[in-house]
Amino acid sequence: MNFELTVLPVEEISEDLEVIIVVKKHIKHRFVQDRKLLKKAGFSSGQDETCLLVEKNRLYVGADSLKSANIRRAAANAIKALKGTKYKSLKVASYTNKGCTYTLRAMTEGFILGGYSFETYKSNKNKNKIKKISISLEEYSNLALDIEKAAQQIHKAQITAEATNFTRDIVNTTPDDCYPDVMASISERLAEETGLQCHILKPKQLKREKMQALLAVARASRHKPRVIHLSHKPENAKFKITLVGKGLTYDSGGLSLKPAEFMTTMKSDKSGASAVMGIMKAVSELNLPVEVHGFIGAVENMIGGDAYKPDDVLVAKNGKTIEIRNTDAEGRLVLADVLCYAQQEVKADYLFDFATLTGASVVAVGHYTSSVMGNSKSVQNLVVKEAQNAGELATILDFNDYLRKSLKSEIADICNISNTRYGGAITAGQFLSEFIDHRHSDKWAHIDIAGPAFVEHEWGENPYGASGAGVRMMIKLIESLSQGSKHP
Ligand code: BES
Ligand code: ZN
Ligand code: ZN
Repeated sequence: MNFELTVLPVEEISEDLEVIIVVKKHIKHRFVQDRKLLKKAGFSSGQDETCLLVEKNRLYVGADSLKSANIRRAAANAIKALKGTKYKSLKVASYTNKGCTYTLRAMTEGFILGGYSFETYKSNKNKNKIKKISISLEEYSNLALDIEKAAQQIHKAQITAEATNFTRDIVNTTPDDCYPDVMASISERLAEETGLQCHILKPKQLKREKMQALLAVARASRHKPRVIHLSHKPENAKFKITLVGKGLTYDSGGLSLKPAEFMTTMKSDKSGASAVMGIMKAVSELNLPVEVHGFIGAVENMIGGDAYKPDDVLVAKNGKTIEIRNTDAEGRLVLADVLCYAQQEVKADYLFDFATLTGASVVAVGHYTSSVMGNSKSVQNLVVKEAQNAGELATILDFNDYLRKSLKSEIADICNISNTRYGGAITAGQFLSEFIDHRHSDKWAHIDIAGPAFVEHEWGENPYGASGAGVRMMIKLIESLSQGSKHP
């Protein structure tokens, strides 16, 4: 999808179709030329509503406000409404919130995110056909916009949304086509294309690094595990950020086998790792002045004669012993070792992990929201704020000492599941906190993306399946930190 920014008013641009966003049901706005027809069609211009007037070559979409989240969704809905039509190019005006060009970024993101569909396994492809979008600087409220700033926002939007779609593609790929070694190959290719550095650890090196918890989870699979380290090291780096991703290319539950209805969609258990790959792609393409390291634990959790078992005691990389009571709580074991390895390799100013860690997070906050946990209120607040700015939903779940006690083991240092059915997202986060060293304790946040990473229906700018949760929030966060004066 190509974007062209122009000073020409919309009327003077010749493209196949015009997209008009009707904001706050303001049907009398000068952009709305077809009031009678729209009324006849029953278009009431609410958010997510669309009305295509084929004879006029105009598409109307509703937005509840000029806020970036609403404009992003409206743009996504516009593109979705055109699926199956023959239109190849669009023109649209600029919609900004009091002249702030960030809304242009949101709109551009919406077009690219809404145009995504995963068709790898379809015989008849029905891909979005829009190839070109002309954005006019003619502004909704007649405000004058700085063309340089506007162009910059559109450029950033393209990188951000394409990185999100890159992540979606990885997550949506089936476990037989995307196993740990494939995750490593995708990372290596990404590094070649972007200039990122990429280092892959295979089982021999994982043993040398004493990552016995990760190796135990991987043992029953015919696909050998990989730990992937991608890095972006610009010369002008202001500070260091480490990202860690859970990359379970399939989670059958292991011997504590999942019931059939919970096993479908578990190809999405690599969403944290895939998000880290997407973030690294964007960070490098934006050439952000921050050193960013992405660590991925890519493993398949299967059953078999060699499987790890409930009752085993594993020794993690930092020497802590873990009593296994449920092999389906495998993500925290993989993350424990990868977190230890990441902290050994890089002393970071911020440490974030992304994981589809618990069903309990989905129960607690619903399908659309990520749960944010950690030891530092300010780091957690930062994640929630930047997630919102980027168009993602995230909320904090507080740790507490009572729940921490539920992870106590009688025979090892800690148990891999809690002894209570409730608060499972928090106890999983508290389990991870045992593998954060004192230097990173206040720099770490755990982001459980189990809810939004993979949803079996369309929502907002997201399609059926993988959403790329975590990508936009983290790009925005790293970008904001790199621009701010407040550095660690
Ligand atoms: N990958 C799952 C969590 C999950 C569930 C992700 C639903 C996305 C959607 C994780 O490995 C898991 O199975 N967790 C268990 C933990 C339990 C055994 C303590 C869970 O949430 O049931
Ligand atoms: Zn599991
Ligand atoms: Zn899992």
